[in-house]
Amino acid sequence: MKKHLLHAEKSIAIYPGSFDPITNGHLDIIERATFLFDEVYVLVAHNPAKSVGMFTPKERVAMIGEAVGKPLLGTHVKVDYMRELMATVDVCTRVGARAMIRGLRSITDFDSEFELAIANMELAEHIETIFMVPQPHNHFISSSKVREIFKLKGPKALLKLVPTSVMQALEKRAQQ
Ligand code: COA
Repeated sequence: MKKHLLHAEKSIAIYPGSFDPITNGHLDIIERATFLFDEVYVLVAHNPAKSVGMFTPKERVAMIGEAVGKPLLGTHVKVDYMRELMATVDVCTRVGARAMIRGLRSITDFDSEFELAIANMELAEHIETIFMVPQPHNHFISSSKVREIFKLKGPKALLKLVPTSVMQALEKRAQQ
């Protein structure tokens, strides 16, 4: 058995994603990940396959931070965005994270998540991908569904799907 070269004093995990915007499904994963790791580093990353998006990276970070709130924010949860185009595994190395968390909602997520996990393993063997399953009532939520519902029905229809910080941002958008 190979002994890992990297031994972080704290157990740190990165939870990367587009978070455009964060949903209650993502929050559920963040909260449960804090029971497993000393520090969960939520990273607003860039998926080259996705277009510019609804919210800027800074706006996404602010909404995530507000949704996480005290006492977790700044202690067990850190939030930031990728400032330059780079591999997420390299951010893991930079912040001393040994694990990358990804949410698995259904079998339809599996293929792409498996491919991503293998690609990341090729890039950095020492980073483990950990798949976490959101609670059943959060299985159908996705950021693109949130954006679609917002366009079709307005912010009020999203009351049970997104945190207050996102609701407020969407209400602002609706008035513009
Ligand atoms: N609750 C709600 N929705 C969830 C969820 C959960 N628990 N878990 C996943 N999702 C949804 C997201 O809302 C998103 O939905 P959408 O596409 O319909 O909007 C979808 O699942 C997947 O999105 P996300 O988790 O944000 O990942 P992504 O595919 O947009 O981005 C990156 C993946 C950014 C982490 C990846 O592209 C990356 O690491 N990029 C940097 C470059 C790199 O390192 N590439 C990999 C090596 S080649």
